[in-house]
Amino acid sequence: MSKVRAFAPATVANMGCGFDIMGMTLDGVGDVVSVEVKEGDGLRIENRTEVELPDDIEKNVITPAVRALMEAFGEKRQVDVTIERKISPGSGIGSSAASSAAAVYALNEALGRPFADERLVEFAMEGEKLISGGTPHADNVGPSLLGGVVLLRGYEPLDIVRLPVPDNFCCSVAHPAIMVSTRMAREVLPKDIPLRTAVKQWGNVAGLVAGLSLKDVNLVGRAMCDVVVEPYRKQFIPGFDALREKVLAAGALAFNISGAGPSVFTLSSDMDVAARVGEIMCEHFATEGVGSDIYVCKVSNVGARVLND
Ligand code: HSE
Repeated sequence: MSKVRAFAPATVANMGCGFDIMGMTLDGVGDVVSVEVKEGDGLRIENRTEVELPDDIEKNVITPAVRALMEAFGEKRQVDVTIERKISPGSGIGSSAASSAAAVYALNEALGRPFADERLVEFAMEGEKLISGGTPHADNVGPSLLGGVVLLRGYEPLDIVRLPVPDNFCCSVAHPAIMVSTRMAREVLPKDIPLRTAVKQWGNVAGLVAGLSLKDVNLVGRAMCDVVVEPYRKQFIPGFDALREKVLAAGALAFNISGAGPSVFTLSSDMDVAARVGEIMCEHFATEGVGSDIYVCKVSNVGARVLND
């Protein structure tokens, strides 16, 4: 019998132009899950948080992630999962990913580390498949498990590239108190895009990767521009275009939707600007009649980890 408690951080998926292929790790905010492994065969999930989650475990993202890991493990065990701390669902900072990442990370530790961290990404992706309407993507679970910035160069087979994070990479995230489900935010997207639009987007993706490798935060900022997805999703975020003007005028280098939204985020090259931009975003949503939570932090190079306290 073995019990492990793990933390998995919140994440910003897409990073502007990298829809479904890039994500970065936030510092300090995330989910805490404990996993107990015993003799037997089965899965139990207990939610000890105040966040409402489905009672039916078939609708919990942790279920397919744990089952995928156990199937690869190849031996039967009773797995008891307790969710101790939870980011609000539908926040746009990888709330579902943090749960499945924390669960598979803790389970892998409890089983004696049979799998490398990169392999855990594949298991956690099964949870994302459940909530996104069938498309598995790893731009939240990748950085939540591995830390830093993660690029999914390809999905078939999964090709994970870990990118360096510049020191002065400051992120301000605003989570307005509105619900946007990942499924809904994906359903509004077009199935095809014009070639000219694709050309702009892949120029930006290349610029973003180059900027990270060169530690050029200004290039990263210029490249974080999304002409494919944002035009269809910004309708869900009150005053989106006006807010972009305000934060760029205050010195932010980029402003985008975080993951499927409704959270939005900015990139800044120093913490003072990041803090000021956080205040501007909070004031903006208050003016729109919407409360918001603000996180101002550096991008973290540390992903899921065991908690010993
Ligand atoms: N890449 C995903 C999306 C992230 O934008 O739909 C949300 O899970």
